[in-house]
This record gives sequence, structure tokens and C-alpha cells, in this order.
Amino acid sequence: MSLTICNVHFTKQPERIVWFSSSLAKLLKLGGRKSVNVKLGKDIVPATVRTIKRKGHHVYMSAGLRRSVRIPKSGHVYIANDEDKEIKLGPLIGVLTDGGTRISSPFGERTEFVRQLLHLGRKKAYFFAFTPRDINWRQETIHGWFLNGGGGWTRRVVPLPDVVYNRLPSRRAEVGSAITTLRERFIKKRIPFFNWGFFNKSDVYTMLDNDPEALRHLPESINNPTSEKMKELLEKHQFLYYKPSAGSLGNGIYRLTYTPRKGYFIRYRRSGGNILLRFSNFNSLMKMLRARHRGNLSSYVVQQGIRLAEIDNCPIDFRFHMHKNGQNQWVVAGIGAKKAGRGSVTTHIKNGGSLMTPERALSRTFGDKSDDVLKEAKSVAIKLAKAIERNYTHALGELGLDIGIDRDGGVWMFEANAKPGRSIFKHPALKGQGKASLKYILDHCIYLSKFRRRDES
Ligand SMILES: Nc1ncnc2c1ncn2[C@@H]1O[C@H](COP(=O)(O)OP(=O)(O)O)[C@@H](O)[C@H]1O
Ligand SMILES: [Mg+2]
Repeated sequence: MSLTICNVHFTKQPERIVWFSSSLAKLLKLGGRKSVNVKLGKDIVPATVRTIKRKGHHVYMSAGLRRSVRIPKSGHVYIANDEDKEIKLGPLIGVLTDGGTRISSPFGERTEFVRQLLHLGRKKAYFFAFTPRDINWRQETIHGWFLNGGGGWTRRVVPLPDVVYNRLPSRRAEVGSAITTLRERFIKKRIPFFNWGFFNKSDVYTMLDNDPEALRHLPESINNPTSEKMKELLEKHQFLYYKPSAGSLGNGIYRLTYTPRKGYFIRYRRSGGNILLRFSNFNSLMKMLRARHRGNLSSYVVQQGIRLAEIDNCPIDFRFHMHKNGQNQWVVAGIGAKKAGRGSVTTHIKNGGSLMTPERALSRTFGDKSDDVLKEAKSVAIKLAKAIERNYTHALGELGLDIGIDRDGGVWMFEANAKPGRSIFKHPALKGQGKASLKYILDHCIYLSKFRRRDES
């Protein structure tokens, strides 16, 4: 397969004609051909071939052809000749998202992220965003949102894309049948679709249960434990986390500790404040938990508590933002360190936590060993990402791992997020990593779109 960047221009003829500059025609091995199939996304349209004398790699498309292939715009894009002697343009990449109500910010609070991503990809692909409502399955088209030169939005109807990057925002919407059907339709059409959806904590723990390499870095965890089991674990570890399996942002998390002779302690967050309660026996602690949750604790997981490294007596932990790159390999794109607010059960910023670079956080706890500790944590994060991927049925291209480092430098994973937030990249020192993260998304989409040379696969 030959692959190169070309410059697409439009002409006015109503017939379906495509002109190639001579050097491009030669590269694409079109010598002597009278017609060719032109492909964009999942659409293929036959066209008459002509060549023109012009230096460089240029393609001219008649209005008739443009209308049938639905090329969204002129300018630079990849062109390749496929095994089946098709000429394909693209890649056509769709970012699936939602959440907006206004035309100026069609994807709500995600709009800025989508805008940055599309801006980065504008010279390498036909890169657009869409919501589930923008798909027309009967016609197999999408009414996509493209970024125009002025930074505003232009709507264009395009064929089903070569790749979908899924950033649908709502966990609740995702389990609905409409979204499940939508995803299955893409898979049926052999359109790579990543990531599939949000992870539940219990699913990740179960997934890694038979993977010794990953299990070494998971605190002991039990899904939907009986109170006997919880008591047993509390006596074993003296310290547990009790978390809603589908929770996020630290909501609904309890920290339990047991000290012989002193009793059972529970910490949690309520109405913006941190609560600490003591019980003299385990049963009254469980009674309080059941009362708070009206008896419904079945979607909780219990987990061995890890004694995290601390700064000023406040635990710190880390978000490792992982991506698959243009060679389909996992890389650490960015790391944010978070120091818990005083008395807080979690390190979330909204619960009083603060964000810093991992270098700063680790040098304050591990001194001159901090480089080695960080290196080890990165290598564990890559191992964990690979383990999650090999135990998961669907395609994965991005992960946010919540990682703890204990006082001996041991590395632990608390949870894996399949739609990781990007708040760590707001830190001034992590802006560059935020950019790198966007670049990995783009490169991985291009990788999945198969717009690559054979020797790159
Ligand atoms: N087993 C544990 N040991 C020590 N700290 C934990 C443990 N589990 C969670 N935490 C702390 O609580 C935070 C939130 O937990 P996490 O599992 O990431 O839930 P959420 O989905 O609410 O973010 C972690 O970032 C970490 O600071
Ligand atoms: Mg978390």
C-alpha cells in the first residue's frame, strides 16, 4: 500500500470524475486505469480517472463525485491505495460524545476538549464529533460536527467513519439499550470503536483476579462482601476501603480502621465535611452503614487499605493517564500527584485535595530515591494497562489509573477509569503532557483506521 498526504481540490463538473497529479497517479499505480473506486469511511463510489500535469500530490474532485463520496472539505489529507485497488481518502474519524444544548458548545463541558482534539487532527484526518442522535443508520451517514478555520462548528453529512473514539459522558446512559445497540452496530460494521464504556470497580477486580502479574498490585478486594467477610478482612488488615462499585469522584466511599481495645473507626464525607465516628463493636458499625444506605449495599466492594506515602500527614496518590500510541503500544502520557485534604478519605480536589507534579510529591517523601520509585511506578502502570487489555473483551486505547505508592515504594492500583477525566492537565507543569495525550489519541485513531504502511503494522 502506498500512503501519502495529498491536497484535495473541488471542481464544478456534475459527472463523477477524479483527477490526480501525475506523480500521485504514479505513486498510487493508476497508470492506464480508466476508472477507480474512491473510498471515504465506509462509502465506496466509482469514478472516472484523469491525470493532470501539476507538481506535488494533488487530487481534483468533480462536484458530482464529491456529493456521492461526501468528502467534507478541501485541503490536506491522507490518500492510499487499498488491496482491492480502491483509492481511499481519510482517515475519517468520529469522536462520539454528547451533553450540549447550545450551538456554540454542542458537547457541553466537553466542548473545549473536543475542539482541541479536532484542531490537532485537522491536517491529518477528517476529524469530526457526533452525538448518538446524529447517526442515520438507514442511510449509513452521520451529520457530523467539523471545526472550521475560525474555530466555530460546521455541520456536514459524512459516511460512517473508519474509527470511533467513544467519549459518551454518562454512565447511566451507557447501560441503556440504545447505546448498547449503537455500539454493537459499529462493531458489526467492523468499525473500530474505543473505549467501549465505563468500568465498574468490581468488573476490573474480577477481570484481573486470574492475572498474577496484575494481582500483585491490587489491594485484596471482595465484591459485595458479607458482614462476616468484612469483619474478617478488617481483622486481617486493620484498614479497609469500602467503595461503591460504580462510584466516582470519591462519592460514597468509607475508610474503616480497627484498633484492638480502641474499637472500630469509620471516616467518610458528608455535606462537604469529613466525619469520623467510633464504634465499640463491628455490628453497630455495620448497622450504621446499612441504615445510611437503606439496607442496599450490594453494589459495594471492600478493599484492603494501603498505607500511602504522605506529605504533611496527608496521603498522596497518583493519576496515571495512559494511552495506546500510533504503534499500538501503551505509554504513560501524563501523571498527576494528588495530596488529600486534611481528614479526607480521598485525594479528590473537590474534597480539599491539591494537585502537584509527581516529581515534587515523590521528592518530598522518598528524597533521592524518588526517581527510582517513579520509574518503577511507570513500569507497573504499563503492566497493569496491558493486563486490563488482555483480560477485556473490547478494544481499549485510553485508561486513567488511580495508583497509590505505599511507604516502602510498593505500587498499588485502586481503580481503572475507561473514560478518564483530564483535570490533572490543568496544572501549569502538566499542560505539555495534556497536549501529548491528545496527540496519542489522534495517532491511535490513525493506527486503528489502517491508514498506515504495511511495514508500520
Ligand atoms: N484501598 C485503598 N487504600 C488506600 N486508599 C484508597 C484505597 N482505595 C481508594 N483509596 C483512596 O480513595 C481515592 C478514591 O478511590 P477510587 O477507588 O479511585 O474511587 P473513585 O471512583 O471515587 O475515584 C483514591 O484515589 C485513594 O486516594
Ligand atoms: Mg478514582
